Amino acid sequence: MTKWSPNSWRSMPIQQVPAYPDFAALAETEARLATFPPLVFAGEARKLKKQLAAVANGEAFLLQGGDCAESFLEHGADNIRDFFRVFLQMSVVLTFAGAQPVVKVGRIAGQFAKPRSADNETKGDVTLPSYRGDIINGPAFDEKSRIPDPARQEMAYRQSAATLNLLRAFAQGGYASLENVQRWMLGFVSNSPQGERYEALANRITETMDFMRAVGITSETNYALRETDFYTSHEALLLGYEQALTRIDSTSGDWYATSGHMIWIGDRTRQLDHAHVEYCRGVKNPLGLKCGPSITPDNLLKLIDALNPENEAGRLTLIARFGHDKVGDHLPKLIRAVEKEGRKVVWSCDPMHGNTITAAGYKTRPFDRILSEVQSFFDIHRSEGTHPGGIHVEMTGNNVTECTGGARAITAEELQDRYHTHCDPRLNADQAIELAFLVSELLRKSAPTPAKKAVNA
Ligand code: PEP
Ligand code: CO
Repeated sequence: MTKWSPNSWRSMPIQQVPAYPDFAALAETEARLATFPPLVFAGEARKLKKQLAAVANGEAFLLQGGDCAESFLEHGADNIRDFFRVFLQMSVVLTFAGAQPVVKVGRIAGQFAKPRSADNETKGDVTLPSYRGDIINGPAFDEKSRIPDPARQEMAYRQSAATLNLLRAFAQGGYASLENVQRWMLGFVSNSPQGERYEALANRITETMDFMRAVGITSETNYALRETDFYTSHEALLLGYEQALTRIDSTSGDWYATSGHMIWIGDRTRQLDHAHVEYCRGVKNPLGLKCGPSITPDNLLKLIDALNPENEAGRLTLIARFGHDKVGDHLPKLIRAVEKEGRKVVWSCDPMHGNTITAAGYKTRPFDRILSEVQSFFDIHRSEGTHPGGIHVEMTGNNVTECTGGARAITAEELQDRYHTHCDPRLNADQAIELAFLVSELLRKSAPTPAKKAVNA
């Protein structure tokens, strides 16, 4: 392999590149971004890697989720808070049932660039470049909006910084204290079946906290009750932006992507010897790799060699996204190949991207297919004796109607009511909590018995 540098990806073949009309302006923006402060610190990325190593070893569970694409228009405190409270609710449900630590990673504070299956979009007799995420161009279907504009990268950087700042305050400033477990409930969820279920669980936690307080363990004396570790992640798609935020960590002398704690490679850009794999292999952050139906065991092992040559636990998370009807054909052979070669990875399930259909003119995802893929993912891991390490979902704290089904049984006709996503359909708060309860049951069932643990050790 050739020598890596933050720009060595530039000499490789590359997919999904926006057609910037003004290269000089692009280069200027990238040069300016390279002088801006990092968004995250290397020490934080290392801490996340350590927590993911626990997931790889079967001792923790990964919850990764957020918008498909963050948006400039919807940037505001309420949206961030509502996302965070639903995420905390999911995490409490999973921790309580699984009796395992939950590693919390948002698709947030940098999740802007989108890979597209087609370069152009046609409506009637007008054809325009596809929308590629707010960091590149605008979603409105007019010529001006669709021209890639480098100035958007600076906006995305600043929005990421502001979002991250608020998230840090929420995670460490008291909002995420378990004493608030009752308060995270959103009004529109509280009178639903999920709301009632959550409330029952929250009451049990509050009772436990009362007991702990009585014996002297309080949120004032105990950091783990008061604060939580929350990390950011996004797809490392727009490599010029990523390169500009790639910095040497003065403690270790290693290169880190400082645009987010964890970055992942999408299913469309994971070609070996191409630019995205090249960039990611050289930074020390925890990495994700989306694995869709076209990946073969041989392919996967080569990618693992490139991305995690030292077989470091926590470095690589394989995010399986096959579809409810395909996961059974693909996942077992990949797991066997990885196990046979003794590779340490986190297995996570993205039940969203393989289950997208069109209904009533909208891109949607039936909730029962999402549940079915998660269920199969757990079943397969149970029969292979491996750890179903996590889930990766597209979700929002808003009361949207983007995925059909769930306890409130959203129909295809209702999609038009509150269909707000800029890209893929997300779980709404109700559906996200319902999914967490389902996963919590699966986690409880798949908890390793002492005998099984000994075999794997
Ligand atoms: C995504 O996570 O939004 C995405 C585009 O996923 P994938 O690369 O798995 O299609
Ligand atoms: Co998506």
